[in-house]
Amino acid sequence: MTTANDPAAKLGKVTLVGAGPGDPDLLTVKAARLIGSARLVVYDRLVSAEILALIPPDAEQIFAGKECGRHYLTQSETNDLLLRLARSGRDVVRLKGGDPFVFGRGSEEALFLARNGIAFEVVPGISAAAGVSTYAGIPLTHRGLATGARFVTGHLREGKPLDLHWDTLGDPDTTLVIYMGLQSLKETSAELIAAGLPPDTPAAAIENGTTPRQRRVIATLETLYDRAHAAELHPPTLIVIGKVVSLSDELDWFDAR
Ligand SMILES: C[S@@+](CC[C@H](N)C(=O)[O-])C[C@H]1O[C@@H](n2cnc3c(N)ncnc32)[C@H](O)[C@@H]1O
Repeated sequence: MTTANDPAAKLGKVTLVGAGPGDPDLLTVKAARLIGSARLVVYDRLVSAEILALIPPDAEQIFAGKECGRHYLTQSETNDLLLRLARSGRDVVRLKGGDPFVFGRGSEEALFLARNGIAFEVVPGISAAAGVSTYAGIPLTHRGLATGARFVTGHLREGKPLDLHWDTLGDPDTTLVIYMGLQSLKETSAELIAAGLPPDTPAAAIENGTTPRQRRVIATLETLYDRAHAAELHPPTLIVIGKVVSLSDELDWFDAR
């Protein structure tokens, strides 16, 4: 018999799997295969119910997500959980919203596993910037409107001001995608305007993108905060700022269906 502390014991492997932004049809073939054959899944809050429904009913499911005002597992508790499960010899599917390596702490988990001698793999997923923008009719780049795109986080740490380089973000030829940016939207908009981005720059907030619950608010940099507030948008919401947002009505294929 072997135990978790026995050096001869078989270690499990952890596969960090990106679940995409919500629509199960946006799973990669590899993600769908791994989810459909999983025996043990540790999943985050952002993984949609439609995707969780693809897990075999007899597989064990552990929720590791965080929700505003409600405590589940801290990042270090999640790391320890993955390590404990792998050391007990079980293979784990670690299911994360979007792409594990884009604002998903997947790299922190992978580093922790690597440093503790646990084998891991990573399956990329469609990140919100790509999936949610596309389902909102917004191309991230478009000839004549945007020559590039930047992804930043608007997440506020314990009430501290956002630590972003506003002077480099106020570029009218670059699309700005803000993850976790709803709470700090008022401050972000003011800082971007102060950095020189025109107040009438088109801007969008998209809640629950790619799902049947998707809602879009299309406004300008100056009006987006008030409009999003009036619409009572909640996380997960993606903010997209830039001239490409001006195409969103003509390219609105998803809501128009
Ligand atoms: C912790 S980050 C995780 C990002 C994820 N790893 C990815 O690649 O999309 C969570 C943020 O992603 C954005 N997000 C993720 N899924 C979304 C969705 N379906 N609709 C709108 N925003 C989404 C929101 O800004 C949300 O606050």
